[in-house]
Amino acid sequence: MRRAACPGSFDPVTNGHIDIISRASALFDEVVVAVGVNASKRRLFSAEERIDMLTRACAPYPNVRIDSFDGLLTDFCTDRDVQAIVKGLRAVSDFDYELQMAQMNSSLSGIETVFVPTSPEYSFLASSLVKEVATYGGDVSGLVPGFVLERLTSRLAERA
Ligand code: PNS
Repeated sequence: MRRAACPGSFDPVTNGHIDIISRASALFDEVVVAVGVNASKRRLFSAEERIDMLTRACAPYPNVRIDSFDGLLTDFCTDRDVQAIVKGLRAVSDFDYELQMAQMNSSLSGIETVFVPTSPEYSFLASSLVKEVATYGGDVSGLVPGFVLERLTSRLAERA
């Protein structure tokens, strides 16, 4: 069984994340979406909310499951017999940091990182930008699933 992890904060999941997860699901027998739940980081959505949105977003992919981790990603991968980490690359600017993390993770555990180029229509997409644009009333309806948009809109309204 070839098992891969797609790690991230997913605060919230975007169509760009779903693009990478769906493509990873075609490459591996099983994909574990690994939600980082580092409690010291401020998030718009709780870990439970992020996991819930991912569970809905990934429902069409039967070999994808959602899990969470707090600590080293390599420990998570070792514990769950994950052989590869899948990361999306949006642009050259992503590459330096992603390469550094891939090499660190390889030196810690020998785990391979597989880079998947983001589909061009999502190359500018990041959860942080979605939140910023939505905060100021911009239209992000094409960038996240409809149910994520609803939760984003109501969470931002609560905070206004
Ligand atoms: O969506 P993000 O915020 O870019 O996700 C970053 C994440 C969670 C994938 C990354 O911060 C991570 O792997 N954190 C776990 C801690 C860890 O293993 N650090 C060493 C990385 S070389």
